[in-house]
Amino acid sequence: MAIAKRICVVILCFALACCVDGKPRKRPVAGPDIYKGKNVAKDVLAPGEKVHNVMSFGAKADGKFDCTQAFMDGWRAVCHSKQRSRLLIPAGKFVVSSMFFAGPCEAPLPITIQVVGTVVATTDISEYVNGEWLIFQNVVGLKLLGGGTFDGMGKKAWQFTENCKADPTDQCIRSPSSLYFNKVHDALIQNIKSVNPKGFHVFVTNSANVRVRLLKISAPDASPNTDGIHISHSINVKLSKNVVETGDDCVSIIQGATNVTINKLTCGPGHGISIGSIGKYLDEIPVRDVRVKNCTLSGTSNGLRIKTWPARNPGEVTDIHYSDIIMENVKNPIIIDQEYNCDPANCQKKPSLVKVSNVGFSNVRGTTISPIAVDLRCSKQFPCKNVRLDNINLKFGLKPATSRCSNVKPIYGGLQSPAACA
Ligand SMILES: *[C@@H]1O[C@H](CO)[C@@H](O)[C@H](O)[C@H]1NC(C)=O
Ligand SMILES: *[C@@H]1O[C@H](CO)[C@@H](O)[C@H](O)[C@H]1NC(C)=O
Repeated sequence: MAIAKRICVVILCFALACCVDGKPRKRPVAGPDIYKGKNVAKDVLAPGEKVHNVMSFGAKADGKFDCTQAFMDGWRAVCHSKQRSRLLIPAGKFVVSSMFFAGPCEAPLPITIQVVGTVVATTDISEYVNGEWLIFQNVVGLKLLGGGTFDGMGKKAWQFTENCKADPTDQCIRSPSSLYFNKVHDALIQNIKSVNPKGFHVFVTNSANVRVRLLKISAPDASPNTDGIHISHSINVKLSKNVVETGDDCVSIIQGATNVTINKLTCGPGHGISIGSIGKYLDEIPVRDVRVKNCTLSGTSNGLRIKTWPARNPGEVTDIHYSDIIMENVKNPIIIDQEYNCDPANCQKKPSLVKVSNVGFSNVRGTTISPIAVDLRCSKQFPCKNVRLDNINLKFGLKPATSRCSNVKPIYGGLQSPAACA
């Protein structure tokens, strides 16, 4: 029985892993944004809004009782209510296994999930047949807020984490993300904490009009593949004032992401803000319109990074703008790496087929801990086009930092430290 279950888990997870990142799909269509022009910072009960407390569905806040059924029953009541409704998770500790918050819902918009207490994941990985922990799916008008915490209990799972990012074979199983948003439109995810996920903290896919604000995300420096906020196949995603301390990318953006804004992110420890890797799969949808503004990266291995696979599939990364970025002891502050995960001696023999264009770095300042502060390694077959650097001021202790450029002729403006490529 146990073995059969585990095999089933493996098959299901594998199927999910390849559909999430692998299959050619369309970008979602956004439709009108229901929060546009509204003050989203304030959460007040709407007149007549009914509060459904998970305690009244049988949850126990003792950190031991399995509250999965209570949460599911509570969600169903909220989702299918005739009046405005919210699900309340009060103070206390609630153990919950893998589950869906699935729509479509009939309740008037938006639907609120208010988390005050701590939601704790179960640790038996064989229960995660859905591939993720908490899955929000097919919901329009979702608010998830309340100051509470999602604890993925990742510590026991990390030793089994497979490195799917660097695996060219696609045979690996991604660990469950804590908060997985699939086909969610008009979402506001605000003022919650995520600690120690088994896999990614927050995963947004096939979604549109998503705001992610004031999250506090943390996991140890050495925790494997614990990306902070991962975005694919989504349109109009705005991240603001999030604080991410984690073991992998603070934010990672892959295929099919369009119109993504990252404002006032504080990142570190972690691997920085990454676009990519791109070109791993066939028929990837381009990444375009990404703006990263007023962010601070501290003690991260990378700062602003675009990474693409060599010798694999075509792809496109275009209209990417970074401005007003502070680096504190960052290893690779500015890096375009089209030789991702490649043996340096062989890379340029089979260049990347991903086209990178219209990339601007402006007002990037601070300190680096490695000599190459600006590292632009583009594809020999498709050199990067229109890469601009304006007012770059990166110091490597008392020594001068340097720039490296291949298959790119950057356009420079203003101060350049390190000096421009010759
Ligand atoms: C981009 O997304 C923002 C919300 O993050 C939205 O206000 C804006 O209209 C979008 N831009 C386009 C061109 O759709
Ligand atoms: C963004 O950063 C720039 C340069 O550091 C600063 O002048 C500006 O006030 C910042 N904007 C916000 C909204 O914090």
